[in-house]
Amino acid sequence: MINGPRGTVDILPEESRLWRHVEAVFAETCDAYGYGELRLPIFEHSELFLRSVGETTDIVQKEMYTFSDRGHRSITLRPEGTAGVVRSFLEHKMQNLPLPIKLYYNGPMFRYERPEAGRFRQFSQIGMEGIGSHDPSMDAEIIIMTMDFYRRLGIANGQLILNSVGCEVCRPVHRQALYDFLLPLKDQLCNDCQNRMEKNPLRVFDCKNENCQALTAEGPRVSDYLCSDCQDHFDDVQAYLDSAGLEYQHDKDLVRGLDYYTRTVFEVYYPDRNIISSAIGAGGRYNKLVEELGGKDLPGVGVALGVDRAVLVLKANPKEELQAPRLILYIATMGKKAGMLAVSILKDLRAKNIYSDKDYLNRSLKAQMKSANRANARYVMIIGQEEIEKGRYTLRDMDNQTQNELDLPEIMKIIEESSDN
Ligand code: HAM
Repeated sequence: MINGPRGTVDILPEESRLWRHVEAVFAETCDAYGYGELRLPIFEHSELFLRSVGETTDIVQKEMYTFSDRGHRSITLRPEGTAGVVRSFLEHKMQNLPLPIKLYYNGPMFRYERPEAGRFRQFSQIGMEGIGSHDPSMDAEIIIMTMDFYRRLGIANGQLILNSVGCEVCRPVHRQALYDFLLPLKDQLCNDCQNRMEKNPLRVFDCKNENCQALTAEGPRVSDYLCSDCQDHFDDVQAYLDSAGLEYQHDKDLVRGLDYYTRTVFEVYYPDRNIISSAIGAGGRYNKLVEELGGKDLPGVGVALGVDRAVLVLKANPKEELQAPRLILYIATMGKKAGMLAVSILKDLRAKNIYSDKDYLNRSLKAQMKSANRANARYVMIIGQEEIEKGRYTLRDMDNQTQNELDLPEIMKIIEESSDN
């Protein structure tokens, strides 16, 4: 037997319903905010991710599924969606359209991570990106929309944390201060952090190693080094969130694991960390990404929400309306003629979206009744030779444990009425 690769999951029918629900709620939210759907390839040229996510990030260093295709091109299964959105934005010259351009996407992403609860090697993100506006109200819109999406899903208590990672003006000043702080500690840092220190010191705050966390606890934080433009922007984003009545926490340690961020970064957590301890959604502003990928100097801001993680939360809070619909009619048949009548009845009922079914294994009446019971059918209609001759059939009400002999129009009426309820 061949099992699925480590870090992948099969989503079985019961859970697929939750996925469909998450995706439908997301599409509905995007419609309300004017975001259009972009469907993108799941593989891109590797260079796209090197130039956007960043060569020093864990994603690029350790986690990408990269291979050479038969034409000897280096191809990567996308580890995230923003880079592809910006690539597509440029390829389709969307900068010539009225700005900002608001886009959303949904699909599988791939990262070679250590699998654990809520962390997979193939996972799904739904995300949105607003490209072309520097205005802090655009950051606020992305954040408000994120929280609105979770509220619509029934996750009204998501915890929002926020920070600013500055820009090309203030970051070098902070970088130098952080480097100077880290230098005397270098030998005590983990190997990864020793590398980060030289290439991108901000990333030391993202280290999971407890020793590194303790050593860097007093290190200079980027949000204490913001230039006045970045500080004003960050103040305005918070003012917009206040005016929309959103709760958030400024977390100076939040730096994010991707290099393209400038200014605003944020993450959302589910309060019960036993269900999911990592962020359920995360995003931020990327003012240099469009230019770095060969376009004009255009800013962007966006977010990606983990679908697997949203589904984990929904599973922990089951809702009746998200369960599979109830089987309204099960038709038990004896003999070929009865089977034929059943098929034609089912065709009519199913065309009206009434969930109905029959036996497909030529089993005894007793076995068919057992199946109907197990499937929690509301009614069972019994068709045998005698019933066909009389034109009257037994309709058993499985909830009330009663039964009646009725003709076909009477039965159809009861079934249709029952499915309306
Ligand atoms: P990210 O923080 O790498 O950001 O991922 C966003 C979300 O995707 C996470 O909060 C989590 O819910 C989900 N996620 C990430 N990795 C995994 C995994 N291995 N298993 C399950 N879920 C996972 C980005 O990807 C950025 N592109 C977000 C963004 C959009 N920034 C601006 N625009």
